[in-house]
Amino acid sequence: MNDMTNSHILVHEFSYLEPRSVGEAIELLVTHGDAARILAGGTDLLVQMKMERQKPACVIGIGKLAELNGIRQDIDKLTIGALTTIRDLARDTTVRGSYTALAEACAAFSTAQVQAMGTVGGNLCNGSPASDTAPALIALGAEVVMVGPEGETRLPLERFFRGPGKTARRPDQLLTAVELPLPTAQASSAFVKIGRVAADIAKANAAVHLVRDGDRIADCRLAFGSVAPTPMRAPRAEAILRGQMLTPELISQAAAVAADEISPIDDVRSTATYRRQVVAALTTDGINRAWKRAAYGESANLRIGEWLVNDEGRRTKDAPRSTLHASRITLHEITLTVNGVTRHLHVADNDLLLNVLREDLELTGTKYGCGIGECSACTVLMDGKPVLACLVLAAAADGSHIRTVEGLAAPDGTLDPLQEAFIEHAALQCGFCTPGMLMTAKDLLEANPHPTEADVRDHLRGNMCRCTGYAAIVRAVLAAAETMTNDE
Ligand code: FES
Ligand code: FES
Repeated sequence: MNDMTNSHILVHEFSYLEPRSVGEAIELLVTHGDAARILAGGTDLLVQMKMERQKPACVIGIGKLAELNGIRQDIDKLTIGALTTIRDLARDTTVRGSYTALAEACAAFSTAQVQAMGTVGGNLCNGSPASDTAPALIALGAEVVMVGPEGETRLPLERFFRGPGKTARRPDQLLTAVELPLPTAQASSAFVKIGRVAADIAKANAAVHLVRDGDRIADCRLAFGSVAPTPMRAPRAEAILRGQMLTPELISQAAAVAADEISPIDDVRSTATYRRQVVAALTTDGINRAWKRAAYGESANLRIGEWLVNDEGRRTKDAPRSTLHASRITLHEITLTVNGVTRHLHVADNDLLLNVLREDLELTGTKYGCGIGECSACTVLMDGKPVLACLVLAAAADGSHIRTVEGLAAPDGTLDPLQEAFIEHAALQCGFCTPGMLMTAKDLLEANPHPTEADVRDHLRGNMCRCTGYAAIVRAVLAAAETMTNDE
């Protein structure tokens, strides 16, 4: 790997600013206008910046605004803070039980690391036609809440998207929350997706929300992703279903109309023809699943449903690390607790957690692979969650607890059971992917001490190995789980 590719660092100049409240964030957005970009989870923005597709003069990090995080149920709605992560949504019992399509969309979303880093607000503001959360939220009747200089405004989510990468959010507005109506009796939902591989963006996805009245569909909403310039509803197909007795013929009819309503294109992931065929199949599947759930009160059959939920320096101003860092970039004083040791560091606006770990702290176990969130070689645990260190601004990580592969072994050098199992099962060859594999597997076993093989494969789906193959790695993780269980 070439450490001097552009994806290794953020080359261009920008200022990193961290507001302490939503009000301060709005003031910054008003001041900097279109020159500013909002940083939440970072999984989209930092990739765009590394690829030099976006060069904001100012990055406003909102990740520490606690008021924007969390899920709250009131008497008339469910409020999801914009900073709520995809992982927290997928594991939330209310979401899994009453907003199943959203839980399924989040469980199908990218990789374990991106689920832990990515936020619902960030995903929506990205404006991707292929978003997984958007069709689920649209089908569930979501509204977005935006705050700007004139105060708060609400908008149905289906009117939020204006084209690929374009939304109704103005540059001086912040998306603060998503609101969902409380579910009615006999209502249920489902999300289904087809991608090239499990961690990939959808070729097409579909979300169905149904309200059942005996054998009839009292109400329904169908929404799709990756089949038009924006996530979209299918009103003609909905009209066919609404008020009717559900029969296989009716489903076929609605599915055919939905396939006709979309406007797909040929692109790198699929063809328009295939997408039309797949949307008919996804519509059928989604309606059947939602209908069955409405009948039997089933919640999502998610792998995460079986888990125990367990969510819980030396460089100075005189010695900037890289000549590619522009001189006017300011240095931030940050404190990280790395493998239990408190570290005080000076980092530039555009320093990444990966560089700080490898170069300042000389913890080179964490690997630099792709630099753009594709390989997971750089996975570390940040406040107990797996993150891609190549997509975390060091300044934004201030105050966090980081665990790297160097922190897996006990202080006396005794290896972690996972490390022992990787050696025992020859689960490495060149070893480049191994630290990332170990940290992702550690995250899995901390939440789910008794994983099945499917659980392991699912959780490691974002970690790429170019030489060993995955069978030995999966065997090693399962063996470590058994050892740890026997040692309890
Ligand atoms: S180096 Fe971070 S995901 Fe590849
Ligand atoms: S062991 Fe070489 S990349 Fe996985």
